[in-house]
Amino acid sequence: MDGNFIVIEGIDGSGTTTQTRLLCKWLEKQNKEFIRTQEPVKEDLHIGKVIKEHLLQDNDNHSPESIALAFAADRLVHLEDRIVPALEEGKIVVSDRYYHSSMVYQPEHGADLKWVREINKYARKPDATIIVDVPAEESVKRQQERDGGKSSIIFENPEFQSKIRQRYIDLEEILDENIYIVDGTRSIEEVHEDIVKIVKEVEQ
Ligand code: ADP
Ligand code: TYD
Repeated sequence: MDGNFIVIEGIDGSGTTTQTRLLCKWLEKQNKEFIRTQEPVKEDLHIGKVIKEHLLQDNDNHSPESIALAFAADRLVHLEDRIVPALEEGKIVVSDRYYHSSMVYQPEHGADLKWVREINKYARKPDATIIVDVPAEESVKRQQERDGGKSSIIFENPEFQSKIRQRYIDLEEILDENIYIVDGTRSIEEVHEDIVKIVKEVEQ
């Protein structure tokens, strides 16, 4: 039987990296077989270079459509190389971001949401997607504390993050799949406990 595929999503600075790490630590303690992964993945390939330039806003002269295609291509390769083989071996896969990121960020940059869904239609549905929900101001504060004031024009912008947050909330209605929105404003440990509860529920 295939393993479970768990995705952790959220706006920048919401705590997805922290929660992915904690969930994997918990899985390890339970002696579960799992892999931890994240998107975007392939920085060394040409596709990865385009993604990297976009994220660093360095030489970022690509259209929202080519960026969306780059993320989608990165994702399908990621699925074929890592995710599907691990699931077929019965392992749990925990991914920090997946196609939900494309469905919220690329439309905010101007790509058509329907089309972004279309180009991601061959990407397997996760068994559970957990959205760590925090207000934009909190996400910006956490990013600044983490990055020591090294500012990013887009990602540390509360207006931008607030639109992304709303798009994440809307996904629950739009997508026919298991989406859980957890309150990410509480302590790291409390959020983690909620996520563990969801993962246990999915496993049953
Ligand atoms: P992301 O991967 O979503 O960008 P991180 O996991 O790197 O976010 O978290 C951003 C910063 O906020 C880090 O410094 C982290 O320690 C901190 N952080 C994460 N979750 C919480 C929380 N629930 N409460 C307070 N600070 C948090
Ligand atoms: P990253 O540096 O990995 O940060 P984080 O710790 O917040 O996950 O940046 C990932 C960024 O890439 C994040 O701002 C969301 C964006 N992104 C997209 O725009 N589309 C996508 O399909 C994916 C997977 C990520």
